[in-house]
Amino acid sequence: MNKTVAALALTTLALTGCGEETKKQQLIVGTNATFPPFEYVGGESGTEILGFDIDIAKQIAADAGKELVIKDMKFDSLIVALNAGKIDMVAAGMTITPERQQNADFSKPYYEATQYVITQQGVSFSSSEQLKGKKIAVQLGTTGDTIAQELTSDVASFNSGFEAVMELSNGKVDAVLFDAAPAKNLIAGKPQLQGALLEFNPEFYGFAVAKGNSEMLAQINATLDKMQADGSYNALLTKHIK
Ligand code: ARG
Repeated sequence: MNKTVAALALTTLALTGCGEETKKQQLIVGTNATFPPFEYVGGESGTEILGFDIDIAKQIAADAGKELVIKDMKFDSLIVALNAGKIDMVAAGMTITPERQQNADFSKPYYEATQYVITQQGVSFSSSEQLKGKKIAVQLGTTGDTIAQELTSDVASFNSGFEAVMELSNGKVDAVLFDAAPAKNLIAGKPQLQGALLEFNPEFYGFAVAKGNSEMLAQINATLDKMQADGSYNALLTKHIK
């Protein structure tokens, strides 16, 4: 930051004051930045939170005239944080499910995903049926976790897909169940691992807000509509995913 910018920032701070006043101007978004290309830690400093969801969140904040504040937390505490009023919105590649809809409201679906099975090179499963009773590693609280629980009583859950993949690399589990795009990202450059799309259902990601926060929801949906219409949504897909 150069001096002029710093001085300007100070003046703005002095003018707006701290506490509640400033808080109103922020959009606090919760994420779990272990899910590339949707959200991950990186950039020049190595500490920036980047990704597809983050770029959309930036646009939502800009359209709402608010400053974006990202809070990185465990995936399974995002909806809790939402309901505790600690965050205004979840942007975490979160699949819209009926269970989650009991505790949060979701935006329009903005991305279609499905589960991917990662195994050691040479070990392959051609249907979910074959995964029954196997030892499966997942990220805690994800849809992969729920699906794995239905297939086996031997589920090892971790705070990130990265750790689940480590467990597989170490030969401790038979497979990892994780969303396809992040799974492909996690195994890139690891020739000892392979992945497959089986017959798992499509899942749709949505941004979550606290139940009843229709104003925030309308803002999110309006930004999504605008980005889809003006091509910026597709540009982000190309930039991050395809
Ligand atoms: N789509 C899956 C789910 O909703 C996985 C999301 C994991 N997201 C993350 N940021 N780690 O459960």
